[in-house]
Amino acid sequence: MQRGEPLTDTITVLGLESSCDDTAAAVVRQGPGGCVILGAAVFGQTALHQNFGGVVPEIAARAHAEKMDHCVETAIAQAGIALGQLDAIAVTAGPGLIGGVVSGVMCAKGLAAALGKPLYGVNHLAGHALTPRLTNGTAFPYLMLLVSGGHCQFLIAHSPVRFERLGGTIDDAPGEAFDKVARLLGLPQPGGPSVERLAASGDARRFALPRPLLDRPGCDLSFSGLKTAVLRLRDGLIADQGGLWPQDQADICAAFQSAVSDVLAEKTRRALAIYDALTPQHPALCVAGGVAANQSIGDALRQVAQDAGADFVAPPLGLCTDNAAMIAFAAIDQMPFNAPDDFTLSARPRWPLDQTSPAMLGSGKKGAKA
Ligand code: KG4
Ligand code: ZN
Repeated sequence: MQRGEPLTDTITVLGLESSCDDTAAAVVRQGPGGCVILGAAVFGQTALHQNFGGVVPEIAARAHAEKMDHCVETAIAQAGIALGQLDAIAVTAGPGLIGGVVSGVMCAKGLAAALGKPLYGVNHLAGHALTPRLTNGTAFPYLMLLVSGGHCQFLIAHSPVRFERLGGTIDDAPGEAFDKVARLLGLPQPGGPSVERLAASGDARRFALPRPLLDRPGCDLSFSGLKTAVLRLRDGLIADQGGLWPQDQADICAAFQSAVSDVLAEKTRRALAIYDALTPQHPALCVAGGVAANQSIGDALRQVAQDAGADFVAPPLGLCTDNAAMIAFAAIDQMPFNAPDDFTLSARPRWPLDQTSPAMLGSGKKGAKA
């Protein structure tokens, strides 16, 4: 396929993802009737990093190198096809933890060379941002909120290759803040689900936590001050009472979750207003990333969309978090615009989706942000 050529035939693509702590492979087929995921395998690394309080890049890279072959075999077996029936190999080429990205890119190059198939390096964030088209057939343009352990940004998706960044975090990603708060409270990782579980029995009004950057116009966000406020709150309680009681933990979790939810809701409201001013089409708000799995955050975002008269699209959790189907699909969606890569394709730790926006600040435990 050449650049600019529309997709007419059926095309079957193997996608590989290894930019953070999930090793994944998937086979996606696009035909005249639409797109189907024929096979998908994910090997999560949570257990490998559990004792270290965060993702250890060297451990992640080694595990990706060990598990990718297995994931590919599983995805291909599920798809019920032979490797030779693939039309192309797609791989996350960034942004992410460089050792992991290199591991995926090398595997993809090996497969592409051995099979004589075209190779496509995909931006991981484009994978997330195009997922609503895979799951819901969402038409351009739409507003995308990426909220995960490594990313937090508002983008207008104009086309498979044109994304306009409206704002994002200036420090931590919200998932990273959930993970740090869990660590401060001695709760298991990943922190998001632990905090959400405890928050259910907590009183969000007992402690007042800040709502960072709400006093500033626009839709940039900040989560690191919130985490520091939780640290001070915890230390103050320990100093006063000699320890933390389970109810204290639950109330802190509820207060923190409510602060994140309020900030994300208000900034999403503003992003939708900016979107409305820039684009005449009916608005759609799409969310992706692990933090979107949080029920009260998801409910708050759905409400914001409803208030603004916007459609709301939240892909199923397995396609919201890191996965390889989104990489294979992004390659397919971008094919009319992108020529295949050659074997000089390199792994990029940073790769902003919107090259015209100023670079974002901060670099969290899950790797450089784009
Ligand atoms: O999208 P994801 O699987 O991986 C990347 O970071 O790319 O997101 C993982 C992040 C973790 O920080 C995790 O704590 C957070 O998403 N997370 C949640 C919930 N489930 C996962 N945060 C809040 N509430 C949840 N239920
Ligand atoms: Zn991701």
